[in-house]
Amino acid sequence: MILYFSGTGNCLSVAQQLAEKTNDSIMSLYDAVNADLTKEDVIGMVYPTYYFNPPQAVLTLSQQLVLPTNAYVYIVIPCGAQTGDAVWAVRQILKRKCVKVDYCHKVRVPDCSAIGFGRDPNAQVWKFEKYKNRITTIADDINARRRANHYGNHGIAGWLCALPAIRRKTLPLLQPAVNPDKCIGCGTCLRVCPQANITLIPQTTNSNNRENSIALIGDKCVQCLACVHFCPQQAVEIAGKTTLKLHQYHNPNIRLKDMLRR
Ligand SMILES: Cc1cc2nc3c(=O)[nH]c(=O)nc-3n(C[C@H](O)[C@H](O)[C@H](O)COP(=O)(O)O)c2cc1C
Repeated sequence: MILYFSGTGNCLSVAQQLAEKTNDSIMSLYDAVNADLTKEDVIGMVYPTYYFNPPQAVLTLSQQLVLPTNAYVYIVIPCGAQTGDAVWAVRQILKRKCVKVDYCHKVRVPDCSAIGFGRDPNAQVWKFEKYKNRITTIADDINARRRANHYGNHGIAGWLCALPAIRRKTLPLLQPAVNPDKCIGCGTCLRVCPQANITLIPQTTNSNNRENSIALIGDKCVQCLACVHFCPQQAVEIAGKTTLKLHQYHNPNIRLKDMLRR
């Protein structure tokens, strides 16, 4: 079983491709915490790197997983460039459950966080062509049950970014917020939010003086940026900067309906 976490579809797409090439199935990490995985022979985990670490949700969900101790376990990280501690931190959690990670690898994909720095993630689609053989190589390794540790060690950047003092400085960098003047209350953001962290609240005081609902992001945000990238009105902004339609990205193999929270 391949367990995934995904905000803009890169990890979902990689999980799907690995499932096809290794004759396996995929399951959201959110569902996996309630599933019986103890009879699985192979456990894969596919999740992104955020600030050189695993997303907070992946850490929390990994702690809740009940996994077999004798399965072949692998971690694949689709990331913009550097994984930092993204493998190491989860490996430590699994180690405490007596689950050994046999294999890990990263795959470079367009970096969805580029939008937060005013850059276009779509300008990085060249990575799909450049690294197109990587997933086949990884699938071959998994099928052969190879043991290898690519990028799975403690990284200095990951270690630094996990320090509370640095986290306090980095986390606000990509914190999304809804611009009430642009939000039309369509609810797309709350349907793609994996954390179920967005609600619609009635509102009559927007600049159009129209009565509608607007979205409000709660305090469980893990900054996957799904709301920023999928909003049809570009109403979800990062650090008050205008979100450009041109800079909105999601993995080209993945459609909005694939991302809807189940
Ligand atoms: C908040 C945030 C922080 C990120 N930090 C990193 C990082 O430190 N290193 C990196 O290589 N990519 C980083 N990325 C890029 C993601 O790892 C990459 O876009 C990933 O493929 C997203 O997966 P998804 O499309 O399944 O959500 C970051 C993305 C976000 C949203």
